[in-house]
Amino acid sequence: MSVVGARLTSAPVPGEPGPGKQEGAPRDSHACTIQARPHGQNVAVRRATPYDAIAELYDPWSVSVTEDVGFYLEEARRAGGPVVELGVGTGRIAVPIAADGIRVIGIDSSRGMLEVCARRATLAGVELDLRLGDLLAPAVEERVPLVICPFRSYLHLHTSAERARALTAAHALLTRGGRLAFDVFAPALDDVEETHDRWLEREPGIWERAIWDTRARTLTLTVRGETGEATMALAWIEPDEWRALLEGAGFEVEACYGWFDRSPYAGGEDTVWIARRAR
Ligand SMILES: C[S@@+](CC[C@H](N)C(=O)[O-])C[C@H]1O[C@@H](n2cnc3c(N)ncnc32)[C@H](O)[C@@H]1O
Repeated sequence: MSVVGARLTSAPVPGEPGPGKQEGAPRDSHACTIQARPHGQNVAVRRATPYDAIAELYDPWSVSVTEDVGFYLEEARRAGGPVVELGVGTGRIAVPIAADGIRVIGIDSSRGMLEVCARRATLAGVELDLRLGDLLAPAVEERVPLVICPFRSYLHLHTSAERARALTAAHALLTRGGRLAFDVFAPALDDVEETHDRWLEREPGIWERAIWDTRARTLTLTVRGETGEATMALAWIEPDEWRALLEGAGFEVEACYGWFDRSPYAGGEDTVWIARRAR
């Protein structure tokens, strides 16, 4: 989800396979299968997923978004794995983590995204455990030291009840003392005014339009490119609300950063959270 207003840097690890992340050439042929676990699948089919229509567009669309990869990789190294990534998408984060020798279980409600992810993992010569499932009820029996939900995937949740349910589900996946790391955003008004209802070319040939509703705190985002088009609904809340939800779900907030360089949050659009399973 390349939302208008995302800060972009030129850090390595592009969205497309590249030698910098050892994603270039196939090594040995690790099979990457996508499992449809009954529990997760039931929830997943309940929801329509716009990502299926843009699965092939997603990597070129998010090619400039690289600033978060090192952050999540560092967290994975610190935890040692295995890592559960909720909303794994095409493996933008999961593949570099797996390439570091850390086992990753990736959950996503879009079969199309998982198929691209499996392809990318094969190309990089890494193995991923990919499962069709939902943020609200991930089909994972294992308990792990780290759950991640990168690139604002929690903005796909629309009510506080859903958010609380998703955080409780993430909490249940963690070993005691384990951590949840995720990032979200809440737009600044000038960003909203600048971009509202305008088609902007995010990448060559890839256009996006944001329709903001600041009362309802929702964003209707359309992305259009040669290989697909989709409209998705996102919803944001303020950092204080995320903090309250995390604490309500049994987490202790260890850090709320304002960016992936771990600078403290100082009132910007982005928040990057590390929350520890306290009980
Ligand atoms: C913005 S993309 C992030 C993908 C990947 N984590 C990354 O950093 O590039 C959001 C992903 O969340 C998935 N997603 C959205 N709602 C979901 C849900 N309720 N359950 C599981 N996955 C969901 C989408 O299919 C999509 O792959």
